Amino acid sequence: MKIRRIFHSNDDGFFPESSSPELGTNMDKELLEKNANELVSPGRGILAADESNGTMSNRLESVGVEASSETRRAYRANLLSTEGYESSISGVILFDETIRQSMDNGTPIPEFLASRGVIPGIKVDTGAKDLAGRNGEKITEGLDGLRERCSEYFAMGARFAKWRAVIKIGDDIPSEACFSTNAHALARYSAICQEQGLVPIIEPEVLMAGDHTAERCYQVTAEILSRTFSECEIQGVHIPGALLKPNMIFAGVDCENQISREEVARMTVKCLNENVPSDLPGIVFLSGGQSDEDATAHLNLMNKMNVDHPWQLSYSYGRALQANALSEWALRNEQSDSSSRDAFSHRAKMNGLARSGDWDLSLES
Ligand code: 13P
Repeated sequence: MKIRRIFHSNDDGFFPESSSPELGTNMDKELLEKNANELVSPGRGILAADESNGTMSNRLESVGVEASSETRRAYRANLLSTEGYESSISGVILFDETIRQSMDNGTPIPEFLASRGVIPGIKVDTGAKDLAGRNGEKITEGLDGLRERCSEYFAMGARFAKWRAVIKIGDDIPSEACFSTNAHALARYSAICQEQGLVPIIEPEVLMAGDHTAERCYQVTAEILSRTFSECEIQGVHIPGALLKPNMIFAGVDCENQISREEVARMTVKCLNENVPSDLPGIVFLSGGQSDEDATAHLNLMNKMNVDHPWQLSYSYGRALQANALSEWALRNEQSDSSSRDAFSHRAKMNGLARSGDWDLSLES
Protein backbone atom coordinates (compact mmCIF):
# COMPACT_ATOMS: atom_id res chain seq x y z
CA MET A 1 0.00 0.00 0.00
CA LYS A 2 1.24 3.48 -0.80
CA ILE A 3 1.09 6.50 1.49
CA ARG A 4 -2.26 8.18 1.01
CA ARG A 5 -1.49 11.16 -1.22
CA ILE A 6 -2.88 14.37 0.18
CA PHE A 7 -1.10 16.64 -2.27
CA HIS A 8 -1.69 18.03 -5.71
CA SER A 9 0.08 15.76 -8.16
CA ASN A 10 0.88 18.45 -10.74
CA ASP A 11 3.21 20.48 -8.52
CA ASP A 12 5.57 17.73 -7.46
CA GLY A 13 3.53 17.14 -4.35
CA PHE A 14 4.76 20.16 -2.45
CA PHE A 15 1.51 21.73 -1.28
CA PRO A 16 -1.14 20.25 0.99
CA GLU A 17 -4.80 19.99 0.09
CA SER A 18 -5.64 19.26 3.68
CA SER A 19 -4.14 20.48 6.91
CA SER A 20 -5.06 17.31 8.81
CA PRO A 21 -3.26 14.50 6.99
CA GLU A 22 -3.70 10.88 7.89
CA LEU A 23 -0.60 8.99 8.89
CA GLY A 24 0.93 6.85 6.21
CA THR A 25 1.59 3.21 6.99
CA ASN A 26 3.93 2.23 4.22
CA MET A 27 6.75 3.88 2.35
CA ASP A 28 6.49 5.34 -1.16
CA LYS A 29 9.89 4.22 -2.43
CA GLU A 30 9.52 5.99 -5.75
CA LEU A 31 8.89 9.39 -4.10
CA LEU A 32 11.79 8.89 -1.68
CA GLU A 33 14.24 7.92 -4.43
CA LYS A 34 13.14 10.80 -6.65
CA ASN A 35 13.64 13.39 -3.91
CA ALA A 36 16.90 11.85 -2.63
CA ASN A 37 18.36 11.96 -6.14
CA GLU A 38 17.09 15.49 -6.73
CA LEU A 39 18.82 16.66 -3.55
CA VAL A 40 22.17 15.49 -4.92
CA SER A 41 21.58 16.46 -8.55
CA PRO A 42 24.72 17.65 -10.41
CA GLY A 43 26.23 20.93 -9.22
CA ARG A 44 23.88 21.19 -6.24
CA GLY A 45 23.86 20.56 -2.51
CA ILE A 46 21.96 21.46 0.64
CA LEU A 47 21.91 24.58 2.82
CA ALA A 48 21.59 23.66 6.50
CA ALA A 49 19.62 26.59 7.96
CA ASP A 50 18.12 24.51 10.75
CA GLU A 51 20.01 25.93 13.72
CA SER A 52 17.82 25.53 16.81
CA ASN A 53 16.43 28.72 18.35
CA GLY A 54 19.18 28.55 20.99
CA THR A 55 22.02 28.08 18.49
CA MET A 56 20.70 30.71 16.06
CA SER A 57 20.22 33.18 18.91
CA ASN A 58 23.82 32.60 20.02
CA ARG A 59 25.07 33.14 16.47
CA LEU A 60 23.11 36.38 16.12
CA GLU A 61 24.26 37.63 19.50
CA SER A 62 27.87 36.73 18.72
CA VAL A 63 27.74 39.28 15.88
CA GLY A 64 25.93 41.88 17.98
CA VAL A 65 22.34 41.33 16.82
CA GLU A 66 19.57 41.04 19.38
CA ALA A 67 18.01 37.58 19.06
CA SER A 68 14.26 37.15 18.70
CA SER A 69 11.86 35.12 16.62
CA GLU A 70 11.61 38.13 14.25
CA THR A 71 15.38 38.66 13.86
CA ARG A 72 15.86 34.93 13.19
CA ARG A 73 13.12 35.14 10.54
CA ALA A 74 14.38 38.36 8.99
CA TYR A 75 17.97 37.09 8.65
CA ARG A 76 16.83 33.82 7.06
CA ALA A 77 14.22 35.45 4.81
CA ASN A 78 16.93 37.76 3.45
CA LEU A 79 19.27 34.79 2.88
CA LEU A 80 16.59 32.74 1.13
CA SER A 81 15.60 35.60 -1.15
CA THR A 82 19.09 35.59 -2.75
CA GLU A 83 18.91 35.56 -6.55
CA GLY A 84 19.87 32.43 -8.44
CA TYR A 85 21.05 30.13 -5.64
CA GLU A 86 18.79 27.35 -6.84
CA SER A 87 21.48 26.43 -9.40
CA SER A 88 23.71 25.28 -6.52
CA ILE A 89 21.23 24.69 -3.68
CA SER A 90 18.79 21.80 -4.10
CA GLY A 91 17.26 21.85 -0.63
CA VAL A 92 17.18 23.87 2.59
CA ILE A 93 16.90 22.31 6.04
CA LEU A 94 14.63 24.36 8.28
CA PHE A 95 13.98 24.39 12.02
CA ASP A 96 10.47 23.96 13.44
CA GLU A 97 10.13 27.72 14.03
CA THR A 98 11.25 28.60 10.50
CA ILE A 99 9.04 26.15 8.60
CA ARG A 100 6.08 27.98 10.17
CA GLN A 101 7.38 31.46 9.24
CA SER A 102 6.96 33.56 6.10
CA MET A 103 9.02 35.63 3.72
CA ASP A 104 8.68 39.43 3.97
CA ASN A 105 5.76 39.38 1.49
CA GLY A 106 3.83 36.84 3.56
CA THR A 107 4.58 33.72 1.46
CA PRO A 108 5.16 30.73 3.76
CA ILE A 109 8.86 29.81 3.64
CA PRO A 110 8.36 26.17 2.47
CA GLU A 111 6.03 27.34 -0.29
CA PHE A 112 8.51 30.02 -1.36
CA LEU A 113 11.34 27.47 -1.57
CA ALA A 114 9.26 24.98 -3.54
CA SER A 115 8.26 27.72 -6.02
CA ARG A 116 11.99 28.16 -6.76
CA GLY A 117 12.59 24.45 -7.25
CA VAL A 118 14.30 24.10 -3.88
CA ILE A 119 13.13 21.23 -1.66
CA PRO A 120 12.16 22.17 1.91
CA GLY A 121 13.59 19.94 4.64
CA ILE A 122 13.20 19.82 8.41
CA LYS A 123 15.35 19.00 11.42
CA VAL A 124 13.31 16.52 13.44
CA ASP A 125 15.56 15.53 16.33
CA THR A 126 15.07 17.37 19.60
CA GLY A 127 18.75 17.64 20.41
CA ALA A 128 21.71 15.71 21.79
CA LYS A 129 21.21 15.00 25.50
CA ASP A 130 23.52 13.47 28.11
CA LEU A 131 23.80 9.72 27.76
CA ALA A 132 22.86 8.25 31.16
CA GLY A 133 25.87 7.30 33.24
CA ARG A 134 28.37 8.27 30.52
CA ASN A 135 30.19 11.42 31.37
CA GLY A 136 30.33 13.75 28.38
CA GLU A 137 28.70 11.43 25.85
CA LYS A 138 25.46 12.24 24.06
CA ILE A 139 22.38 10.49 22.74
CA THR A 140 20.11 12.34 20.34
CA GLU A 141 16.46 12.39 21.33
CA GLY A 142 13.21 12.99 19.49
CA LEU A 143 11.71 9.59 18.66
CA ASP A 144 8.60 10.13 20.82
CA GLY A 145 5.83 11.55 18.63
CA LEU A 146 8.14 11.55 15.60
CA ARG A 147 5.62 9.81 13.32
CA GLU A 148 2.99 12.50 13.96
CA ARG A 149 5.51 15.34 13.55
CA CYS A 150 6.80 13.91 10.26
CA SER A 151 3.25 13.65 8.98
CA GLU A 152 2.63 17.30 9.88
CA TYR A 153 5.88 18.45 8.26
CA PHE A 154 5.04 16.52 5.08
CA ALA A 155 1.71 18.34 4.97
CA MET A 156 3.60 21.64 5.34
CA GLY A 157 5.72 20.79 2.28
CA ALA A 158 8.83 19.17 3.75
CA ARG A 159 10.22 16.30 1.69
CA PHE A 160 13.34 15.44 3.66
CA ALA A 161 14.52 15.43 7.26
CA LYS A 162 17.66 15.55 9.36
CA TRP A 163 18.71 13.87 12.61
CA ARG A 164 22.17 14.59 14.04
CA ALA A 165 23.97 12.19 16.34
CA VAL A 166 27.04 13.58 18.10
CA ILE A 167 30.06 11.36 18.73
CA LYS A 168 32.90 12.74 20.81
CA ILE A 169 36.40 11.23 20.82
CA GLY A 170 38.28 11.15 24.14
CA ASP A 171 40.39 8.88 26.32
CA ASP A 172 37.85 6.09 26.79
CA ILE A 173 35.18 7.30 24.46
CA PRO A 174 33.15 6.73 22.37
CA SER A 175 31.79 3.86 24.44
CA GLU A 176 29.90 0.87 23.18
CA ALA A 177 26.78 2.49 24.68
CA CYS A 178 27.31 5.63 22.60
CA PHE A 179 27.79 3.70 19.34
CA SER A 180 24.87 1.35 19.86
CA THR A 181 22.27 3.84 21.12
CA ASN A 182 23.04 6.45 18.45
CA ALA A 183 23.13 3.94 15.58
CA HIS A 184 19.84 2.48 16.75
CA ALA A 185 18.18 5.90 17.06
CA LEU A 186 19.40 6.99 13.61
CA ALA A 187 17.88 3.87 12.05
CA ARG A 188 14.57 4.22 13.94
CA TYR A 189 14.34 7.86 12.85
CA SER A 190 15.09 6.90 9.24
CA ALA A 191 12.42 4.20 9.13
CA ILE A 192 9.76 6.54 10.54
CA CYS A 193 10.69 9.34 8.13
CA GLN A 194 10.50 7.03 5.13
CA GLU A 195 7.14 5.67 6.22
CA GLN A 196 5.88 9.28 6.28
CA GLY A 197 7.36 10.25 2.89
CA LEU A 198 10.46 12.15 4.08
CA VAL A 199 13.96 11.31 2.83
CA PRO A 200 16.07 10.85 5.98
CA ILE A 201 19.45 12.52 6.16
CA ILE A 202 21.42 10.26 8.48
CA GLU A 203 23.97 12.38 10.33
CA PRO A 204 26.43 10.68 12.69
CA GLU A 205 28.88 13.52 13.37
CA VAL A 206 32.25 12.63 14.85
CA LEU A 207 33.39 15.92 16.37
CA MET A 208 36.68 17.64 15.52
CA ALA A 209 37.24 18.70 19.16
CA GLY A 210 40.14 16.95 20.92
CA ASP A 211 43.76 16.00 20.36
CA HIS A 212 43.17 12.65 18.64
CA THR A 213 44.94 11.65 15.45
CA ALA A 214 43.34 11.39 12.02
CA GLU A 215 43.70 7.60 12.27
CA ARG A 216 41.58 7.60 15.44
CA CYS A 217 38.95 9.76 13.72
CA TYR A 218 39.00 7.24 10.86
CA GLN A 219 38.42 4.27 13.23
CA VAL A 220 35.59 5.94 15.10
CA THR A 221 33.92 7.19 11.91
CA ALA A 222 34.20 3.71 10.35
CA GLU A 223 32.63 2.15 13.44
CA ILE A 224 29.65 4.50 13.69
CA LEU A 225 29.01 4.28 9.94
CA SER A 226 29.06 0.49 9.81
CA ARG A 227 26.95 0.21 13.00
CA THR A 228 24.41 2.69 11.65
CA PHE A 229 24.01 0.94 8.30
CA SER A 230 23.69 -2.46 10.04
CA GLU A 231 20.86 -1.03 12.16
CA CYS A 232 19.28 0.46 9.05
CA GLU A 233 19.30 -2.98 7.48
CA ILE A 234 17.69 -4.58 10.56
CA GLN A 235 15.01 -1.88 10.62
CA GLY A 236 14.22 -2.03 6.88
CA VAL A 237 15.45 1.41 5.88
CA HIS A 238 15.31 1.85 2.09
CA ILE A 239 18.88 2.94 1.36
CA PRO A 240 18.21 4.27 -2.20
CA GLY A 241 15.76 6.71 -0.56
CA ALA A 242 18.14 8.07 2.09
CA LEU A 243 21.21 10.33 2.29
CA LEU A 244 24.22 10.28 4.62
CA LYS A 245 25.68 13.41 6.24
CA PRO A 246 29.07 12.49 7.71
CA ASN A 247 32.12 14.35 8.95
CA MET A 248 35.29 14.26 6.91
CA ILE A 249 38.36 12.59 8.41
CA PHE A 250 40.59 15.02 10.33
CA ALA A 251 42.98 15.00 13.23
CA GLY A 252 41.39 16.65 16.31
CA VAL A 253 41.82 20.43 16.38
CA ASP A 254 44.34 20.15 19.25
CA CYS A 255 46.42 17.38 17.65
CA GLU A 256 49.97 18.38 16.72
CA ASN A 257 49.95 16.28 13.56
CA GLN A 258 47.43 17.80 11.21
CA ILE A 259 47.04 16.16 7.79
CA SER A 260 47.04 17.83 4.39
CA ARG A 261 43.92 18.60 2.38
CA GLU A 262 44.85 15.79 -0.02
CA GLU A 263 45.12 13.36 2.88
CA VAL A 264 41.74 14.46 4.29
CA ALA A 265 40.17 13.75 0.91
CA ARG A 266 41.94 10.39 0.50
CA MET A 267 41.15 9.10 4.00
CA THR A 268 37.54 10.30 3.87
CA VAL A 269 36.82 8.57 0.57
CA LYS A 270 38.53 5.36 1.77
CA CYS A 271 36.47 5.32 4.98
CA LEU A 272 33.24 5.88 3.05
CA ASN A 273 34.10 3.21 0.49
CA GLU A 274 34.64 0.68 3.25
CA ASN A 275 31.52 1.46 5.27
CA VAL A 276 28.75 2.99 3.15
CA PRO A 277 26.44 0.92 0.92
CA SER A 278 26.92 1.64 -2.76
CA ASP A 279 23.17 1.96 -3.41
CA LEU A 280 22.97 5.10 -1.26
CA PRO A 281 22.37 7.97 -3.74
CA GLY A 282 24.45 10.60 -2.03
CA ILE A 283 26.74 11.75 0.72
CA VAL A 284 26.25 15.34 1.84
CA PHE A 285 29.06 16.42 4.15
CA LEU A 286 28.68 18.68 7.17
CA SER A 287 31.30 21.41 7.52
CA GLY A 288 31.77 20.89 11.27
CA GLY A 289 33.85 23.98 12.02
CA GLN A 290 36.14 23.95 8.95
CA SER A 291 36.88 27.29 7.32
CA ASP A 292 34.71 28.12 4.31
CA GLU A 293 37.62 27.56 1.98
CA ASP A 294 38.71 24.26 3.54
CA ALA A 295 35.17 22.88 3.30
CA THR A 296 35.04 23.75 -0.40
CA ALA A 297 38.61 22.60 -1.13
CA HIS A 298 38.14 19.19 0.54
CA LEU A 299 34.94 18.48 -1.35
CA ASN A 300 36.57 19.65 -4.57
CA LEU A 301 39.52 17.28 -4.10
CA MET A 302 37.23 14.30 -3.49
CA ASN A 303 35.25 15.02 -6.64
CA LYS A 304 38.43 15.62 -8.62
CA MET A 305 39.86 12.17 -7.86
CA ASN A 306 40.18 9.96 -10.83
CA VAL A 307 37.63 7.52 -9.43
CA ASP A 308 34.00 6.78 -10.14
CA HIS A 309 32.42 7.11 -6.69
CA PRO A 310 29.28 4.98 -6.27
CA TRP A 311 27.44 7.91 -4.65
CA GLN A 312 27.23 11.63 -5.37
CA LEU A 313 29.59 13.56 -3.08
CA SER A 314 27.95 16.82 -2.08
CA TYR A 315 27.42 19.26 0.80
CA SER A 316 24.92 20.08 3.49
CA TYR A 317 26.85 22.93 5.03
CA GLY A 318 25.61 25.27 7.74
CA ARG A 319 28.47 27.47 8.91
CA ALA A 320 30.57 27.07 5.73
CA LEU A 321 27.70 28.52 3.65
CA GLN A 322 26.46 31.13 6.10
CA ALA A 323 29.34 32.53 8.18
CA ASN A 324 30.11 35.49 5.89
CA ALA A 325 26.44 36.10 5.13
CA LEU A 326 25.72 36.38 8.85
CA SER A 327 28.60 38.78 9.51
CA GLU A 328 27.51 40.96 6.60
CA TRP A 329 23.93 40.98 7.79
CA ALA A 330 25.05 41.96 11.29
CA LEU A 331 26.90 45.01 9.96
CA ARG A 332 23.64 46.66 8.91
CA ASN A 333 20.97 44.44 10.48
CA GLU A 334 18.45 45.48 7.84
CA GLN A 335 15.46 43.51 6.57
CA SER A 336 16.97 43.47 3.09
CA ASP A 337 20.75 43.27 2.79
CA SER A 338 22.36 42.65 -0.58
CA SER A 339 25.90 42.20 0.84
CA SER A 340 24.69 39.31 2.95
CA ARG A 341 22.93 37.78 -0.06
CA ASP A 342 26.09 38.26 -2.18
CA ALA A 343 28.20 36.47 0.43
CA PHE A 344 25.82 33.51 0.48
CA SER A 345 25.56 33.46 -3.31
CA HIS A 346 29.36 33.33 -3.63
CA ARG A 347 29.79 30.40 -1.22
CA ALA A 348 26.91 28.51 -2.82
CA LYS A 349 28.56 28.93 -6.25
CA MET A 350 31.99 27.86 -4.97
CA ASN A 351 30.57 24.69 -3.43
CA GLY A 352 28.48 24.05 -6.54
CA LEU A 353 31.74 24.04 -8.52
CA ALA A 354 33.36 21.68 -5.99
CA ARG A 355 30.65 19.14 -6.84
CA SER A 356 32.44 18.49 -10.11
CA GLY A 357 36.00 19.23 -9.00
CA ASP A 358 35.94 22.54 -10.91
CA TRP A 359 36.62 24.88 -7.97
CA ASP A 360 39.94 26.72 -7.86
CA LEU A 361 41.41 29.11 -5.30
CA SER A 362 41.63 31.86 -7.94
CA LEU A 363 37.81 31.90 -8.10
CA GLU A 364 37.62 33.08 -4.50
CA SER A 365 38.74 36.64 -5.17
P1 13P B 1 27.87 22.72 9.85
O1 13P B 1 28.11 22.65 8.36
O2 13P B 1 27.96 24.12 10.40
O3 13P B 1 28.67 21.73 10.61
O4 13P B 1 26.35 22.36 10.09
C1 13P B 1 25.81 21.32 9.40
C2 13P B 1 24.72 20.75 10.19
O5 13P B 1 23.60 20.82 9.79
C3 13P B 1 25.03 20.12 11.46
O6 13P B 1 23.96 19.34 11.87
